[in-house]
Order: sequence, then C-alpha cells, then structure tokens
Amino acid sequence: MNFAIIPGDGIGKEVTSEAVRVLTAVGERFGHRFDLEQLPWSADYFLQSGVTIPPNGYDQLREFDAIFIGALGDPRVPDNRHARDILLGTRFELDLYVNYRPVKLLDERLCPLKGRTPEDVNFSVFRENTEGLYVGVGGRFKAGTEDEIAIQEELNTWKGVHRIVRHAFEFAKARGLTRVCMADKSNAMQQGHALWQRVFRELAPQYPGIEATHYYIDALAMYMVLDPGQFQVIVTNNLFGDIITDLGATFQGGLGMAASGNIHPGRTSMFEPVHGSAPKFAGKNVANPIGAIASTGLMLETLGLESEARAIDTAILRAVRDGHVTQDIGGRLGTREAGEAIASGIRSHAA
Ligand code: NAD
Ligand code: IPM
Ligand code: MN
Repeated sequence: MNFAIIPGDGIGKEVTSEAVRVLTAVGERFGHRFDLEQLPWSADYFLQSGVTIPPNGYDQLREFDAIFIGALGDPRVPDNRHARDILLGTRFELDLYVNYRPVKLLDERLCPLKGRTPEDVNFSVFRENTEGLYVGVGGRFKAGTEDEIAIQEELNTWKGVHRIVRHAFEFAKARGLTRVCMADKSNAMQQGHALWQRVFRELAPQYPGIEATHYYIDALAMYMVLDPGQFQVIVTNNLFGDIITDLGATFQGGLGMAASGNIHPGRTSMFEPVHGSAPKFAGKNVANPIGAIASTGLMLETLGLESEARAIDTAILRAVRDGHVTQDIGGRLGTREAGEAIASGIRSHAA
C-alpha cells in the first residue's frame, strides 16, 4: 500500500514523524509493505516557491491508497492560503464528504467532566465536509471602508446533506448502535437548515431500529457537557462539526488526543489529527502525538486492515494507562518518546 504523507507546519511535522514511526512498526509486525511518500507542501514550501499545491497536486494525491496530513497553519502566512489549498482543497477536490471524528475517552483521569468514565464518553461525530459555510462563496464590497459589506454564503444541497446523514445512519446500523442525533440551527437558519430537517425526517424511517433525535446546535453543545453518555452518533454540518469536535476533544484529554478521517467511501481518503499546528509548541518536542497516531489507525481501519488498526488502538491505550505520554495529559515524555512508547508496544506485542 502506498501513502502520501504531508507533515505540513509546526507540530504537524513532529506528530507526523511519530505517526510514521508507528505505521512502520505496524507494517513490520504484520508483514505489509507500506510505501510512505513524503510531500513537502507546507508554509515553508509556499514561502520558498510561491506554490501552495502544484497544479497536478490533487491528481497526484488520488494515486495513493490514502493520505495523511499532520497540520497546516503558520503565522507567516496570515491568510492561511496554503492551508486552504492543501487541507480544504483536498477535502473538496477529492470529494471527501465524511469527516469522521470519534470522541472516545480512554481513561477517566483524562476527562475534565466531573465523574465521567470511558462508558460515558464514546460517540462519533459525522461532520459534513464538502459544503456549508466552507465553500468560500461570497464577497466583500467597499472593503477597507466603513461601508464594507461582507457576504459568506452557506451552501446546503440535497445531495450533500443526504449523503452525510445517510452515512451516519449506515454507520450506526453497521455497528449495532441505536441512536443518531442530528444537530442544526433550523430555528434561526430557516432555509438551509430546513433542508437538513427534511432529509433527516425522510431518512430516519428507513432505519427502524435506530432512534433519530434532533437538537439545535446550541442545546447539543450544552448536552454534550451535561450528559455525553446519551450520544452514540452525531451528524451535523461543516462549521458546527468543526466546533463541537474541539469540544469533544477536550473530553478525551485535549486536542492532542483527537483523531479524524476525511472519507469518501471507496476512494482515496485523508486522515489527520483534529488539532492544528500549535505554533507556540512547534519544535519543542512537547506535542502529544496520539491524535496523529490514532488517525493512522482510522486510516488502516478504513482500508480494511482491522487487526492492524486494533493493534494501534491497543498500543495507545497501554501507553495512556502506563502514563507513557506527554505533559498535556499528565505524563513526562516528549513527543518522540511518547511516539516510541506506542511503536514499541506494537513491536513487543509481536514477540
Ligand atoms: P491548534 O489546534 O493548533 O492549537 C490550540 C491549542 O491546543 C494549542 O495551543 C495547545 O494548547 C493545544 N494542542 C493542540 N494540539 C496539541 C497537541 N498535539 N498536543 C498538545 N496540545 C495540543 O489550534 P489554533 O491555535 O487555533 O491554530 C493554530 C494553527 O493551526 C492555525 O493556523 C489554524 O488555522 C491551524 N489549524 C489547522 C488544522 C489542521 O491542519 N487540520 C486544524 C486546526 C487549526
Ligand atoms: C479542522 C480545522 C480546519 C477546519 C481549519 C484549519 C480550516 O479547524 O480540521 O478542524 O476548520 O476544518
Ligand atoms: Mn477544527
């Protein structure tokens, strides 16, 4: 199998090294040939060459079995245009409409919610990933004056809403789950979110064993904190999904823990930690690599390598339980050492 590896910026580079270390260990243990091709696209590359992603970049990416991205974002590129082209561009151009973001607490010591255990925090967020407010439709008129008008349109299509809501239900059905919650803001956003309401109402009856519930997004945020155990699957739009998955990450121990997949079932998909490039931590060997490493687990799982994915999850869990982790979750290791603890867990299990 061949993987495109885009370390990107800041701590993205450091956590990607650890993800690669773990992937290599998995390849060795299970006897797979994993070809990892590093692509240099990043803020550095853009500042040196003026190129964010080459003209044939997306076609190049489509040739791989999967893509891994560390993180993109650098204060030297204030408009973040390289991140837009590389990260959002890949989501849009490869039509990766499912943003799968599991929220799973591994150890109750890591959860900031009082008294919550791994049983209470174990759900999956499906974030629509190709439309909504992210499409960049709009414009500015009289920019820079006191008469400036800025318009940013939210795009909701039947096809886009239908395929992500259906995916959420199908995921629940395949895993024997019994609850899917859709979150929108249809009380205020009476056009676009009426479409979400319609699609959800139309699809729900096709899944008789699954209880379909709805919350407005503000109430959902409140219930996530108050009673996370009620959630199994949450489906929502692009922006709301972005926001609630940072909140969900805190339940897991922080942004350093959260993993994600940007998936078009059956096609080349992209995997990345939920966190960004955290410039203040860059180059200090302090970033938590678990979100990145767990994302490689999602990548292998999506490619059908179940045992390999479980081996990664098991090694992460063991490192967390043993406290062989970075400072943000109470350990004393650096990024490299924490990555090595997980990789060696995978290797030793082979013995
Ligand atoms: P961020 O996720 O980079 O960091 C926010 C804070 O979360 C950090 O200051 C740190 O305290 C904590 N954190 C994040 N990752 C961590 C890790 N691995 N280990 C330990 N702690 C961690 O978010 P931000 O500061 O809002 O954004 C920084 C840059 O990253 C921006 O340019 C932003 O656009 C970009 N960004 C990129 C992605 C991506 O590539 N997928 C995601 C989010 C933000
Ligand atoms: C994420 C990030 C991105 C997003 C940014 C960097 C554009 O926050 O992947 O969660 O908003 O999707
Ligand atoms: Mn985000």
